[in-house]
Amino acid sequence: MIKNDLFLRALKGETVERPPVWMMRQAGRYLPEFIALREKYDFFTRCQTPEIASEITVQPIRRYGMDAAILFSDILVIPQAMNIEVQMKPNFGPYLPNPIRTSKDVDNVIVPDVTVALDYVYQAIKATKELLNDEIPLIGFAGSPWTILCYCVQGQGSKTFDKAKEFCFTNPVAAHLLLQKITDTTIAYLKEKVKAGCNAVQVFDSWGGMLSPVDYQEFSWQYIQQIIDALKDDAPVIAFGKGCWFALNDMAKSGASALGVDWTCSARNARYLTGGNITLQGNFDPSRLLSPPSEIKKMVTQMINEFGKDKYIVNLGHGILPNIPLENAQAFIDAVKEYKA
Ligand code: CP3
Repeated sequence: MIKNDLFLRALKGETVERPPVWMMRQAGRYLPEFIALREKYDFFTRCQTPEIASEITVQPIRRYGMDAAILFSDILVIPQAMNIEVQMKPNFGPYLPNPIRTSKDVDNVIVPDVTVALDYVYQAIKATKELLNDEIPLIGFAGSPWTILCYCVQGQGSKTFDKAKEFCFTNPVAAHLLLQKITDTTIAYLKEKVKAGCNAVQVFDSWGGMLSPVDYQEFSWQYIQQIIDALKDDAPVIAFGKGCWFALNDMAKSGASALGVDWTCSARNARYLTGGNITLQGNFDPSRLLSPPSEIKKMVTQMINEFGKDKYIVNLGHGILPNIPLENAQAFIDAVKEYKA
């Protein structure tokens, strides 16, 4: 069905000519054609208007020809649908004016009918599938319940998410109630995204690495595992945890089709910790895209040699930075396409 199915074959662990490539947060940020649209429409208007969201999704594909597209949206549409106000402030990031701090706040959080509350996302997926014309697969995504809790409780981005941790450690009953509400909403949401046309889903646990290995099991991993259990028969699931190398062993046994790795874990270590049999995705340091293009190409080739061309998806170790020169992003993609085993 899909003409370039390298990405789907790598997720199945099949032998491929070369590994597939895409970049986390590839839609937006560093692209001039995105910045032009950002001037005209505010963030949630861009997310909620299928014509705009689908256009932004395909912009990086037109320019670079990645092997997979990721829908333009945000992980914070979930708390928004759960009756928690979320604003996106230019040059500041997410801002939640009424953060969750008490059991009563958690009681007021609803588990919405996602078919209604997030219908605009499925419309954006359908519009994107039209534009992609079955050339490449489309990735849908959600934040992990822990990462969503971080924003709901902290109320904004943070280097420590100290208030989120304080809430979990002083009121674990309420924290788990909230995590379960987010998990239930996320499962229903991802299932609808697959129904609407997403070929794979990725769970972003961007702040999992804030937790100790023991706390990670309690407040993050068990909920991601619920999501994998619920989704894995619908579509391949990729679990990405930033700073979560310590959990790779458990993750490898989870039923996920692939695991995301950041740049603090070597390829050899990631293969060792996961038992060598599961597809891995990553892990170029996003800042390394600031190196000259010729150096980027050498480093990418070396990275593929270290991970091996099979059971591997070339990606960054976290999202692309806004200040990356266009030709450097091009060098990253080209190096993969030019790869010879
Ligand atoms: O490729 C893509 O960019 C697809 C769409 C996408 C966005 N956010 C668009 C966006 C995806 C996959 C995300 C995920 C996301 N959002 C994560 C997980 C991945 C990660 O980077 O760790 C997180 C933690 C968020 C929360 C979020 N949204 C933050 C912290 C910010 C502000 C900082 C920034 O610029 O990333 C956002 C806003 C946001 N989400 C923008 C975009 C393109 C920029 C704001 C704008 O365009 O006005």
